[in-house]
Amino acid sequence: MMRWLVTGGLGFIGSNFIRLVLRERPDLQIVNLDAMTYAGNPANLRDVEGDSRYAFVHGDICDPAAVARAIGEGVDAIVNFAAETHVDRSILDPEAFLRTDILGTHVLLEAVREREIPRFLQVSTDEVYGDVSEGESSESDPIRPRSPYSASKAGGDLQVLAYWTTFKTPVLITRGSNTYGPYQYPEKLIPLFVTNLLDDQQVPVYGDGMQIRDWLHVEDHARGIMHVLERGELGNVYNIGGGNPRTNIEITRILVNDCGRSMETHVKHVVDRPGHDRRYAVDTAKARAIGWTPRVDFEQGLRDTVAWYRENEPWWRPLKSGEFLDYYKRQYAHR
Ligand code: TYD
Repeated sequence: MMRWLVTGGLGFIGSNFIRLVLRERPDLQIVNLDAMTYAGNPANLRDVEGDSRYAFVHGDICDPAAVARAIGEGVDAIVNFAAETHVDRSILDPEAFLRTDILGTHVLLEAVREREIPRFLQVSTDEVYGDVSEGESSESDPIRPRSPYSASKAGGDLQVLAYWTTFKTPVLITRGSNTYGPYQYPEKLIPLFVTNLLDDQQVPVYGDGMQIRDWLHVEDHARGIMHVLERGELGNVYNIGGGNPRTNIEITRILVNDCGRSMETHVKHVVDRPGHDRRYAVDTAKARAIGWTPRVDFEQGLRDTVAWYRENEPWWRPLKSGEFLDYYKRQYAHR
């Protein structure tokens, strides 16, 4: 039986990926190596814990011994979801981002090289292209990251590509756009706003709210990663985007309506994020050329996501306590 090592599989996109693979690839086993940071939540995969094709290893990708333990006798591929991902946190504490997103990637690359693992897929982000005022970023564009988060992800990408050039390490990179859906930690725009609104609290819109993101459903993102892993050409980068550009204020309006609140009472414009990228947009022709295409309609996907948070309060309620409240205060109190 084939075995894939997934790192960071207790996070948002990783857990959705593991669920998809177990469902759609009955001939595959998954090993999940996860450090269980604040964003790695065992509840994200409670439903697959008993599956005989799923195994969990607790450990950090920066620790070569933990990576060796997870690889065990060998794996057919490594998919690296393990990362610090939140831009606002990277502004408060950049070092954790450098460590996991760059050094952790390096440790995995070394393991792939030494153990001659046939495939390594690095899950990256469209944020490495930086702010794009017009047009769409394509994979051959120069990268111009502008936040400590995107600079760290870009550092990881460059090392991955350098291993391809230097050692012919069999690598692939996906650059996904802003992702939404079930099991997203409630610090990001959509889950933060939905859970605040369900709680009858205000939502903090940065600046004028006219920043644009291209929204991608997590199921489409996970399927895109699986597709690139199985059919991508080694040494290549593939953009994965939903093709749903929306301003933050448009998103806010939909969420406010869906939760039965009003813009006047529930929206608070707060001081903008420093260095805030206005717009991201990706050209996805290359992923489409190998047969991937997003399936989820955005309006439907967003409505279903709101319904999911409404129905799964026992999942998110415990997350909005302790560490989260400290973070929320540091992030928003002074705005
Ligand atoms: P986010 O979900 O943090 O993703 P990213 O910064 O990686 O794109 O933010 C999405 C957009 O929403 C971004 O333009 C910042 C904005 N935003 C707010 O206006 N208020 C908030 O409280 C958050 C978390 C984000």
